[in-house]
Amino acid sequence: MKASEILNINKAGWEKAAERFFGRTALPEYGPFAMNEDKLKLLGNISGQKVLDVGCGSGHSLQYMGSQGADELWGLDLTTKQVETAKEVLADQQVKVSLFESPMEENPGLPSNYFDIVYSIYALGWTYDLKRTLTNVHNYLKPGGIFVFSWEHPIHDRLSYEQSTFTLHKSYVLEGPEYNEAWHNNVVTYHRKLTTYINTLIECGFTIEKVIDDVELPNTPSEDASKWYSTQKAELVPATFIIKASKKG
Ligand SMILES: C[S@@+](CC[C@H](N)C(=O)[O-])C[C@H]1O[C@@H](n2cnc3c(N)ncnc32)[C@H](O)[C@@H]1O
Repeated sequence: MKASEILNINKAGWEKAAERFFGRTALPEYGPFAMNEDKLKLLGNISGQKVLDVGCGSGHSLQYMGSQGADELWGLDLTTKQVETAKEVLADQQVKVSLFESPMEENPGLPSNYFDIVYSIYALGWTYDLKRTLTNVHNYLKPGGIFVFSWEHPIHDRLSYEQSTFTLHKSYVLEGPEYNEAWHNNVVTYHRKLTTYINTLIECGFTIEKVIDDVELPNTPSEDASKWYSTQKAELVPATFIIKASKKG
């Protein structure tokens, strides 16, 4: 499948679905059944920092960064509807806000060696070219700057719930673009092993600071084990992983 086809399919899918996701996966949350930023403290002191959100969606994570005293709020996203909403969500921020409608694989005019913190919450698995996206991120960061991202753990959608049991129904090791089941096969995400994320970061010049796939379960189990994110599934495999990396100083 060509890159332009993937982008077109995914943009169309997100323009339609955006509203359902407003603020759903946003800082301080990293994702389903993962510890949040209040507990993990991966971003360090946000006050006075220049920050960039890759796949900023509706701007709710940038709003959190603003509430923590970030000095400049920058974001990019593929979807017009998301960028428009982010503009509204961030309208009352007292600091500089710069939003770009762009695929993360392209640089829409972002400065080099500029950001203290680049982060991405549940967006990186959409990229059709991880190396290109991470090369961009590395370029945007100041030496010593940090990159933190979360995404669905690549083992999570390999299991499906059938006849009251979880079954491994897709290969973990086979990588590539896939129609996404959670989206009823209307969009394309890219299956990659956890090690591919780690090794591509290293290839792009990053130092890996932390890899987290701990599961935090609520006290009450999900009523429906067949839900995409259920506690029953999270007892078996992580739903979310988080990586913190840094650019050498
Ligand atoms: C789960 S949402 C992100 C939520 C957001 N990080 C937040 O904090 O509220 C995923 C986002 O990725 C964006 N996206 C998908 N493919 C993209 C691409 N190739 N480049 C940039 N953004 C992309 C979608 O438009 C969507 O807004």
